[in-house]
Amino acid sequence: MLDCSALPKAELHVHIEGTFEPEMVFEFARRNEIALPYGSVAELRDRYRFTDLGSFLEVYYANMAVLRTERDFRELATAYLRRCVAQGVRRAEIFFDPQAHTSRGVPLRTVVDGLVQALEAVPEVSAELILCFLRDQPVAAAEQTLRLAEPMLDRIIGVGLDSAEVGHPPQEFAPVFERARALGLRTVAHAGEEGPPSYVREALDSLGVERIDHGIRALEDAGLVARLRADRTPLTVCPLSNVRLGCVPDLAAHPLPRMLDEGLMVTLNSDDPAYFGGYVAENFTAVGAAFDLTETQLRELAANSLRASFLEESARAELLAEPIP
Ligand code: HPA
Ligand code: ZN
Repeated sequence: MLDCSALPKAELHVHIEGTFEPEMVFEFARRNEIALPYGSVAELRDRYRFTDLGSFLEVYYANMAVLRTERDFRELATAYLRRCVAQGVRRAEIFFDPQAHTSRGVPLRTVVDGLVQALEAVPEVSAELILCFLRDQPVAAAEQTLRLAEPMLDRIIGVGLDSAEVGHPPQEFAPVFERARALGLRTVAHAGEEGPPSYVREALDSLGVERIDHGIRALEDAGLVARLRADRTPLTVCPLSNVRLGCVPDLAAHPLPRMLDEGLMVTLNSDDPAYFGGYVAENFTAVGAAFDLTETQLRELAANSLRASFLEESARAELLAEPIP
């Protein structure tokens, strides 16, 4: 089979806090003198048997307690970007969750400066930051976060919407997305991961997003599928995540082949690779094997990620023209 690490690609759906490998959690805890509620890496990994998004988010936010300094954020993102280099990722549009840090007393400046230092330390990858609002927190908190971020917008290309989806429809966040667009930011939102197809419609209509993160449940609504196809709206699909969070029973049941048959603009991504058993190349390899995808299909999925990125046109064309070994 094709070596999927060799395909030039973009990763458009990765939460930097979701790249926090257990070994690093322990290292940072020791260094920052913070006690962990687990005795060993093995014990922590043992908690990674998730039943749904909520059960994952609990561990995901708990581990963040040990992320405190600029150095922590720099080392976290540098480690991720080094993996990008090894996996053919030429472009990374990286989510981060400011509210999960500011609510613990870590200044937004500390988070952004640490992340930006990492982007500068690994120039082989064209990388940008997307600030995500936590949809299970009040809209006012999202608005305040955007205000806090205004002096740092030269280092942030867009905003997204993540955290617990069901019961938190996109529409509530329309004013803050409108403000973000007025500030020149690009927009994306998680929708249709656990939530209904109506959330995907709302993300498009009320938030005006340019890409949908996940979007797997869009398939339940034929009219929506037709619209996504006609508009070539990119969907940042994360197969290993969907399996590990029980959004689909197993990889064989994943809707990716149906999404491709429907002619949707699908990209493959890792979401929270330290928790879900694989980075982006492993997602390619897993679906390639599960669905017997052809080399042409895998190349097309990699090319889609570059097409769906927020890269400038000339940089995108250059990456799409790169010869593949
Ligand atoms: N869904 C919603 N919020 C998240 C996720 C996800 O998969 N990962 C990190 N925050
Ligand atoms: Zn996600």
